[in-house]
Amino acid sequence: MVIETNITSMLGIKHPILSAPMGPFYTTKLTVAVSEAGGLGVLSHVTIHGTVTIDEMKKSMEYVVEHTDKPFGFNIRTARLQPDAIKLCRQLPRFIMENPKIKEQCVYLITSAGSPRLIYNKHFEKLKESGSNIKHFHVAPSLYLAEKLLNSGVDGLVITGTEGGGHQSYENISTLVLLQQIRKHIPEVPIIASGGYATGEGLASALSMGVGAIAMGSRFISSKECEFHENYKKMVVESTASDTELITGIFGRARVWKNKMSEKHSLVESKEEKQAEETSMSKIERELADLEKTYEGNIEEGIAYLGQSVELIDSVEYVSDIIKTIVNDAEKCLTAAFNNIRKIPIEQIA
Ligand SMILES: Cc1cc2nc3c(=O)[nH]c(=O)nc-3n(C[C@H](O)[C@H](O)[C@H](O)COP(=O)(O)O)c2cc1C
Repeated sequence: MVIETNITSMLGIKHPILSAPMGPFYTTKLTVAVSEAGGLGVLSHVTIHGTVTIDEMKKSMEYVVEHTDKPFGFNIRTARLQPDAIKLCRQLPRFIMENPKIKEQCVYLITSAGSPRLIYNKHFEKLKESGSNIKHFHVAPSLYLAEKLLNSGVDGLVITGTEGGGHQSYENISTLVLLQQIRKHIPEVPIIASGGYATGEGLASALSMGVGAIAMGSRFISSKECEFHENYKKMVVESTASDTELITGIFGRARVWKNKMSEKHSLVESKEEKQAEETSMSKIERELADLEKTYEGNIEEGIAYLGQSVELIDSVEYVSDIIKTIVNDAEKCLTAAFNNIRKIPIEQIA
């Protein structure tokens, strides 16, 4: 079964499923697996272990095209506090343009956590003029931001609600409500929905709301191909939604797994309070060190980004099986919903 949508056509993929970026960690092997399975694998913005991110991203892109001929994408976090963002935005378009196979396969850039405008420089323009099919999406965690983004030149939005793993908006709005808001106010915008998806029912509900694809983080952590530590995968499989909570992360609110470390963080009361806090670089370094601990398997003492969708995940599976199951279940779900609606004779509706 193939479900074709505006996003699958735009990105040239078979299934309306993407892997969500999960920096600061590597998702290179996961990207290959998701793209090979007919979804769109997305490389993360890697900053652990003191890596030079531009070199890591180049190496990851080379790895991906060596291992699959299918399309893929990548993430740049353009936050004010992300010291390498400008460099990545300037140098990566040039690198992609100079590598024909990468240029052909790299169809998606997702910017997040900051301004989408950082990518609109002469190098990105040249890349597009040179025949690249790359589409630029930006993460919108609120209607206000989504409306602002439309005037910036993005090709579409990644709509993400508070149930998702990792950084979230201050608005604290669920994916379900946010999607309805966006569809009502800006119905024409291509949407990828993220935050809370792990099943065919989830995909079916997103499609029925006019969404073109879903992006999943937590579900793909618990895949055999994901390079995260086995302890992280076990945590996903064994946790429930209430094992996650919102803390104050580097770029704002972040949904994490409840543990000794998360208890030490507290929610900020206002955006202003958070912005003042963001001027402190030491906090970034501390959080990165806490994230590295988790990546290495010390899940009790590190910070583990995790979504409420863990409630729905109870096994570590191959990416191809995850995607197949979700697409088949979504089809069944949509067919059943359609049949149920049609089965009710009109005279019975008083
Ligand atoms: C471990 C982890 C790391 C993440 N890092 C990033 C990131 O670097 N950039 C970004 O845009 N989103 C990041 N996110 C958010 C995801 O892209 C996505 O929105 C989220 O995982 C969706 O919720 P789900 O986990 O329920 O699928 C991260 C999420 C997780 C779980």
